[in-house]
Amino acid sequence: MSHILGEAGAHPEETGEPITADIYRFDPSIDAKPRMERYTVPYCNRMSVFTLLREIYAYQDQTLGFRNQQCGRGICATCRVRLQVDGGKERSVKGCTIPLEPGSHVVIKPHSDNVIRDIVVAF
Ligand code: FES
Repeated sequence: MSHILGEAGAHPEETGEPITADIYRFDPSIDAKPRMERYTVPYCNRMSVFTLLREIYAYQDQTLGFRNQQCGRGICATCRVRLQVDGGKERSVKGCTIPLEPGSHVVIKPHSDNVIRDIVVAF
């Protein structure tokens, strides 16, 4: 089976303690209310919030909605989310510009209330 990161079995090498990610999930067409879903994700070198989402989508849950057609360079801002790391203050960030530390706990939410699905919002 192929997917966005390449062929199955080509998983990047884990290089640190896994990341725990709680991600906002909501499909207005079927869900009565939002929920948070927890994922445990192998940490790989230079992992960002954006690559974390791609990792989850590719290897754990292809129902996760996020914008994958992105610049990955901090230019387009389509990866913007609200992020909380290790119980710190929640802030709006461009996910591709935020490096993650091994073993961290992140909470990822949509950056506005105009949710299309999960962390995808209308512009
Ligand atoms: S992907 Fe374009 S700013 Fe993050």
